[in-house]
Amino acid sequence: MAFPTETVYGLGADGLNADAVAKIFLAKGRPSNHPVILHVSDTKAAQALVRDWPQEARMLAEAFWPGPMTLILQRASHVPLAVTGGQETVGVRVPSHPVALELLRAFQKLGSGVIAAPSANRFGAVSPTRAEDVVKGLRDYLDPADRILDGGDAAVGLESTIIDLSSDSPRVLRPGGLTREAIQKVLGRDLPWVNPSYSERPPHETVPRVSGALESHYAPRARVILVRQGSIQDELTTRLKTHPLARIMVMAMTRNDIPAGAVEVSQMPNDAATYGQVMYRQFHRADELSADILLVELPDTDRSTSATAWEAVLDRLNRAAH
Ligand code: TXA
Ligand code: MG
Repeated sequence: MAFPTETVYGLGADGLNADAVAKIFLAKGRPSNHPVILHVSDTKAAQALVRDWPQEARMLAEAFWPGPMTLILQRASHVPLAVTGGQETVGVRVPSHPVALELLRAFQKLGSGVIAAPSANRFGAVSPTRAEDVVKGLRDYLDPADRILDGGDAAVGLESTIIDLSSDSPRVLRPGGLTREAIQKVLGRDLPWVNPSYSERPPHETVPRVSGALESHYAPRARVILVRQGSIQDELTTRLKTHPLARIMVMAMTRNDIPAGAVEVSQMPNDAATYGQVMYRQFHRADELSADILLVELPDTDRSTSATAWEAVLDRLNRAAH
């Protein structure tokens, strides 16, 4: 079943049932060695899924759950390896969307109370922030009996921030809805963002720990081109000259002076949180318009008060453009 969370919609199944989890991989077309996140209704239920609960986990759970944060910890022995991609660690999260919480609580009465859920999209595609995105993206791959719960537009719009607490050196594996700055404030120290992408890995290690860390991911079908702020006019004019038949969509930061010729121009917000909220919707829009090219004018991140505010947005833009 697909259900809303505050970050993106999830495609859920009983997280303690390996056969049920296998069906998620099938519907997504995702390699079976990629781990999925386990969702639970409260911190106590999360603790039951892990071997130990370090001090950092306690501090972060108190501060940010329910919310857009996933903690990676050593798995308890009853967590199926199908969930962890064969690894000894597991990702756990308490989402804050009222429908997700209600679903988890109901499932606690009826079953394990643990829902394994990746984002409800085909592997490599853009995460859904609305129920209709799920319908469009997975219609052909879901069982007719699978429900899609509609909880409206996702409030965060970007996936959760993944924090690895499974070793002695805590680190962020994926920037997301919760800023690194907010996390650092609670922990009272700096937390590096270590991107476990293929390129940084020893060649013998082939299991990607974070599928969102693949270089090309979260991508619309259009070719995404990132453009420095202020150059969008020139870029569009040039592209229209060289590709007169191309369907070009523009995500613009500057208000004026966008020349005619694009199939659509979206005005993007100057604030990182609001940008994150609507970014995937624009990617889906590009797909809907069958755009060939999506020109994205980069936000002016220097004007931001927080150094990490734009981290997640820029990460997703770069991956979409890869
Ligand atoms: O906001 C979110 O996190 C959404 C909603 C539905 O909760 N879920 C989501 O799931 O984005 P998914 O599967 O699309 O991305 C989860 C990421 C993957 O990149 C996966 O590799 C990583 O979390 N992950 C899960 N368990 C892990 C583990 N044990 N170690 C390292 N990475 C893990
Ligand atoms: Mg995903």
